[in-house]
Amino acid sequence: MTNVADTWGINPQQFWLRGQRPERPVAFDPATGMWNVYGYPETVHILGNPATFSSDTLRVMPESIVRRGKDLREGNLVQMDEPDHRKLRRLVSEAFTPKVVADLEPRIAALTHELLDVAAQRGRMELVADLAYPLPVIVIAELLGVPSSDRHLFKQWVDKMLEYSGQFSLVKQSAEQDRAMDVAFEQRQHLLDYLEGHAKERLQRPREDLLTKLVQAEVDGERLTTTEVVNFANILLLAGHITTTMLLGNTVLCLDAHPEHMARVRADRRTLPGAIEESLRFLSPFAAIGRATTVETELGGERIPADKVLMVWIAAANRDERQFARPDEFDPTRDPNPHVAFGRGIHFCLGAPLARLEGRVALDILLDRFPELRTDPDEPPQFIPSPNMTGVRKLPLLLA
Ligand code: HEM
Repeated sequence: MTNVADTWGINPQQFWLRGQRPERPVAFDPATGMWNVYGYPETVHILGNPATFSSDTLRVMPESIVRRGKDLREGNLVQMDEPDHRKLRRLVSEAFTPKVVADLEPRIAALTHELLDVAAQRGRMELVADLAYPLPVIVIAELLGVPSSDRHLFKQWVDKMLEYSGQFSLVKQSAEQDRAMDVAFEQRQHLLDYLEGHAKERLQRPREDLLTKLVQAEVDGERLTTTEVVNFANILLLAGHITTTMLLGNTVLCLDAHPEHMARVRADRRTLPGAIEESLRFLSPFAAIGRATTVETELGGERIPADKVLMVWIAAANRDERQFARPDEFDPTRDPNPHVAFGRGIHFCLGAPLARLEGRVALDILLDRFPELRTDPDEPPQFIPSPNMTGVRKLPLLLA
């Protein structure tokens, strides 16, 4: 599988997908001005020490970046530190309970069938366009309460945001990077304006949806501001679909590339969750997360000064042989499988139960309905160009 990373067009910077190991688990990159962290124990240390490794990376970003995005901080759960993070997370967790998620199972199943009916009639399938993209987008749009029929709009905006395949640098600000950032912030603004319209409408006319819960919610007796609601809804809309799209596509691709595991999962669906977890480790959708040091600290034998940005490559940590035996082997029987594809600690992915449920329900139905499903040798998969993501954006499949 490692040698096909090139033919699939996976971003060349993701060397761990080509069976290569980092020279050091923690290394400063003069080209980007950031510290790269590739090791598993180092990643776990960072995620377990949020006071030293802050999520508020905006604090140390150059002014040229921060000024581009209006109100980047408010309601941006992923980039908040304690105690603000805890307050907002508690509030959102109340709206996003295990029961709310579990109750979605029949809807996820019905939607999967509807989407697959269309592909079955056609006799061909492009997994991403036909199932892996629309399913999670419709689910998150329905949860939030925005019309899922607007999904072509979100797709247009998000696709443009992820088009840049270069590695973002803090030190060398090329015209190309500037342009890519302008495009990304412009698209973000489209999404925010769209969500603001809906949030304001919910203040006037409440409904049974997450947006209404957010506009009505109170933290310490105070309502969230419209900006907080909108920024948070934006995170949910973004996080709620691109990652799960990748999870669905990557898992099908991993099983297809390993016929013995495909046969095992087909024969015994109780093994499907193990295959999903291994796909998350093997091709981690969110390849990197950012942190900023608050004090000088030591990590992996290096001294990192205060106020430095770290790119924590969780996808590389998931291939660290100090933690995972035979890391480049796709082995759905790994048990335990303590991958960090959903992060760890206080920022552990809020949507992990939803992503896992969507994965299990949709793939179960897909395998049931298409006993001969396989990749098309004439049309290889395509991956998202961004170095920070690992996921198919096109996966043509033969049905018979
Ligand atoms: C946080 C990955 C699906 C919502 C995170 C983090 C990761 C992650 C790595 C930690 C970020 C950090 O520590 O800086 C994934 C993957 C997914 C997925 C791989 C699918 C396979 C979802 C879904 C939703 C969601 C479906 C929502 C519906 C969030 C939110 C946070 C988060 C709100 C921020 C939590 C916090 O800061 O406390 N996710 N995610 N994610 N995720 Fe996910």
